[in-house]
Amino acid sequence: MRSLILTVLVLSQAPEPQTPTVEKRMGDHFSKATEMKAAIVSGKLAEAKAAAAWLGKTEWSPQMSEDWRVPLQKLRAIATRTSIAPDLPTAAMGLGEIGAACAECHRALGGPQVSDSRPPGPASGAQPRMTRHGWAVERMWLGLTTPSDPAWLAGTEALADAPLEPKALGQKADAELKPLANRIRALGERAHAAPPIERATIYGQLLSTCASCHTQSGAAPRAQSSQR
Ligand code: HEC
Ligand code: HEC
Repeated sequence: MRSLILTVLVLSQAPEPQTPTVEKRMGDHFSKATEMKAAIVSGKLAEAKAAAAWLGKTEWSPQMSEDWRVPLQKLRAIATRTSIAPDLPTAAMGLGEIGAACAECHRALGGPQVSDSRPPGPASGAQPRMTRHGWAVERMWLGLTTPSDPAWLAGTEALADAPLEPKALGQKADAELKPLANRIRALGERAHAAPPIERATIYGQLLSTCASCHTQSGAAPRAQSSQR
């Protein structure tokens, strides 16, 4: 399997030295998708759509074999559709589907290794809780795209065991935000129990819930770093 992949990589790169390497392409995909995720969480539809458009256009190499071309085409089709999403929930669902398409190819051709990461400790106050939410959403993304059950489950657990208390939001907490905080918790629990086939959808619902509260409370998260 490994040597097969290497052969494919070598074949797809050798004739065209200018073609970016698969590693470079994968890094670009990874960071574009991360950018898209951060834009959605912040409620920035235009930025999310721009990242989706980039993912929809990307070419890897003209010499790609069929087993690469087919899953890549699928990813590009979903991304292109998402680049004209009329609203944030639609864009968030698109990102979930993109994540599932990453996983589909990784399952067939090999993919990333997930490194260990521990959640930031629970603490009261909006900021630490949000840092933990950010970590959870990142782990779940790795869980969805690698795919990796342990990463997915660790992410969902961090959402469930650090529920966002509306009072941690201080004066911004009101009747409108409380249901959103509860929804995050409920989605965390559903996500924990969900079989892989349902994860992309729940992930999309989760991200649009993050976005709703940030938009409604006027809290704009600082740009999340796109480092791995
Ligand atoms: C057409 C197939 C395909 C698609 C689609 C795909 N990948 Fe990959 N990806 C691979 C393969 C094959 C590897 C392993 C390459 C290797 O052996 O180093 C890989 C490796 C990776 C790595 C590890 C790179 C490294 O430096 O070790 C990351 C991260 C990654 N993919 C993320 C993604 C994300 C995110 C998406 C979706 C936006 C995606 N991939 C879509 C085939 C694909
Ligand atoms: C109930 C409302 C609410 C929900 C739901 C919510 N957030 Fe937040 N978020 C906030 C508020 C308010 C702030 C601003 C906190 C501050 O800076 O004091 C914030 C800020 C952030 C920040 C920036 C933190 C920093 O250090 O500046 C990140 C990252 C974040 N949220 C991620 C998420 C993610 C990911 C989700 C979904 C899993 C989510 N949030 C769901 C209300 C919410």
